[in-house]
Amino acid sequence: MIALGADHGGYELKEAIKKHLDELGVSYIDCGTYSAESVDYAPIAKRTCDKVVSGECEKAILCCGTGIGISMAANKVKGIRAACCSDYFSAKLTRQHNDANALCMGGRVVGVGLALELVDVFLNTEFEGGRHQRRIDQIAEIENL
Ligand code: RB5
Repeated sequence: MIALGADHGGYELKEAIKKHLDELGVSYIDCGTYSAESVDYAPIAKRTCDKVVSGECEKAILCCGTGIGISMAANKVKGIRAACCSDYFSAKLTRQHNDANALCMGGRVVGVGLALELVDVFLNTEFEGGRHQRRIDQIAEIENL
């Protein structure tokens, strides 16, 4: 199960991602927003990421205009490792090395075609563990300071 969230800047991209996931047969929960009307991204990041932290969803995909604001908000949620990506290599490596559990993209930055490639590689790439686990643990330690 994937948690999806977007503000108005990412709304159209979120809708395209929903269509893509439908075609792939991947289940998701749409945490809003549900129209192109202006809305704040931080509460949407929170309620989307809460689905991951609770275990209801495996990963989150978040979209805003740049992908940056919603990734900043997502990374404030304990247990979330959100990566703002606009290239294939980063979307792949953030799974392999960072065990990212939230992919953030900018609806005003990436085209739909690229965004769907990023979604695919993000969802299908495994964390490598090993030395990277230690680094993930160090990130988590910062949350507890
Ligand atoms: C909204 O205009 C825009 O600021 C927002 O979608 C996002 O890009 C913020 O980082």
